[in-house]
Formats: sequence, structure tokens, C-alpha cells
Amino acid sequence: MSSAAFDEYLGLWRGRVDSALDRILPPVDQAPGVIHEAMRYTVFAGGKRLRPILCLLSAKAAGGTEEEAMPAACAVEMIHAFSLVHDDLPAMDDDDLRRGKPTNHKVFGEGMAVLAGDGLLNHAFATVALIARDDRIAESVRVLAHAVGTAGLIGGQVEDLLGEELEPTAAAVERIHRMKTGALFAGCCRLGVLAAGGCREVLERLTRYAELLGLAFQIVDDVLDETGGDEAFGKTAGKDREEGKMTWPAVVGLSASIARARELAGEARELVAGLPAEPEFAGLAVKVVERTH
Ligand code: IPE
Ligand code: IPE
Ligand code: MG
Ligand code: MG
Ligand code: MG
Repeated sequence: MSSAAFDEYLGLWRGRVDSALDRILPPVDQAPGVIHEAMRYTVFAGGKRLRPILCLLSAKAAGGTEEEAMPAACAVEMIHAFSLVHDDLPAMDDDDLRRGKPTNHKVFGEGMAVLAGDGLLNHAFATVALIARDDRIAESVRVLAHAVGTAGLIGGQVEDLLGEELEPTAAAVERIHRMKTGALFAGCCRLGVLAAGGCREVLERLTRYAELLGLAFQIVDDVLDETGGDEAFGKTAGKDREEGKMTWPAVVGLSASIARARELAGEARELVAGLPAEPEFAGLAVKVVERTH
């Protein structure tokens, strides 16, 4: 598939994820309307939908359907949106721009942004429980809780904040990346396989693929924070350096960071060789490294 054709293909998945999110999120005319407006503001501000796509592709690779995995796909995007709203707060990264728009707290105020994040986190669990097979709900909730918990995304955000006061080292940065980004990527693939009733081998291979992809993704995020600056980037560049963040470029510089991201994406691609959705997984690994936003 050419790069343009793959982009079009991703656009179709994005459209279906967006429609499902719109159906599942509480409407703005449901009281109290302002929090539903705030939740929807960030969810529909124009994300790449990479995490739900990973979830849906994983279901496909495990022999399942998009329909089976859609609740889990929406749930991971809600978790992601929650993490972004809180990540941008003045008490955390203090960012004014997200997805090319003013951040949630800039529009709705800090108190409402905290609550909108809480609302999204909570609604993610209600959403993952919508998967059709009752016998797969409990495990899905456990997988999601692990991905977002203090050994995953939230724990990684803790280490990210603590890291602002420390000298960056490769080991510390990798640990932060694994937790704050890799854990949710892995959760996306695990939830997709689980929703489809896939086998352990596919589950393990995709988990490892997603962990490596997550590391590559966050390295590129750190690189773009230094180099991005155009409108399409959609965030304020140079913030990591300003806040003293532990990033891969801070440890090894830009070109070694890009080389490391390529290497990780290459390793990720090897893991999906022979799987039913191999071309799509391989295409995503290329996109993650080549992306500009
Ligand atoms: C940004 O994630 C936060 C990180 C974990 C680096 P994305 O770059 O996937 O953000 P959206 O969803 O496309 O806006
Ligand atoms: C965010 O990492 C990871 C999350 C879990 C939200 P960053 O703080 O680097 O993400 P951006 O650059 O603000 O999107
Ligand atoms: Mg952050
Ligand atoms: Mg940030
Ligand atoms: Mg960043």
C-alpha cells in the first residue's frame, strides 16, 4: 500500500472511531451540560486516533471484527484524552495549545478541566464494559486499569514530573516512556485481541509490538517537541527543555534519538511478520517514526 493509500485507509478508521465516540459520550444537552461539553471538546479536537486504531487492528489480527472491539477502542481514546487534559494543566506541563486549539483548561477553566479528565477516565471504564461478550468484560476492565494505573500511564506521569528535578539518564527516560506511553499502547493491543477472543501467541506478540511502538512514538514526540513548530504540530514546541523534562534528546541528542526510534520501529515490525494485519501494523510503525505531528 502506498503512503497516500495508507493515509486514506487510516482516515476511514478514524471516521468510524469518531462516530462511535460521538454515540458513546454523554451528549451536551445532558445535565450538567458543561462537563460533557468539556469532555467532547478535547476528544473531538482532532487527534490521530492511533490508540483506537491499534485496538481495532489487533482485533482483526486475532480473527475478530471491528464491531467487537469498538467499545474498547473508544475506551482507550477516552483514557488518552483524559491524560492529555490533565497533562496540559498548569500543575503539570502547563500547555496552552493542544491539537491546534486552546487547551481544555484555557477554555473551561482549571476546575472544569480536572473534572472533564475525571469524567473521561470514568466513562472509559463504563465504555469498555459495553463489549458484547459478558465473559470478556472483567478481564478487559483489568487490562485497562493496569494500562492506566500507577504501574502504567499514571505512574509514568508521576515519574515524568519527578524527573524534572533530576539529571536525565537513558535508563530513567526509557522507564518513563514505557510507563506513560508504552503501557497504554500495549493495553490497546491486548484489549483488541481480548475482544476478539484471540490466542495467547497473538496477544504476546502484539503486546511486545505495542511496547516497542510506544517507545518509538514517545521518542519521536520528544524530538518533535524540539524541532516541530509549524501549525500542523498543534502544540507549543520547546516546552520539554523549558520544563527540564527527561527526554531522549536531552540524553543523546536529536540524531541519535531519531536513529533509536527507527531501530525500535524496525524491531516492532519484525514482531508482526506473518500476522493477518501485518501490512497495517508495519505501516503504522513507519508512520510513527515519520510523523510530523
Ligand atoms: C500525545 O499523543 C501524547 C503522547 C503520549 C506523546 P498523540 O500524538 O497520539 O496525540 P493525538 O491524539 O494525535 O492528539
Ligand atoms: C504525555 O507526554 C504522555 C501522556 C500520558 C499524556 P508529553 O507531555 O510529552 O505529551 P505532549 O507532548 O504534551 O503531547
Ligand atoms: Mg507530560
Ligand atoms: Mg505534555
Ligand atoms: Mg511531548
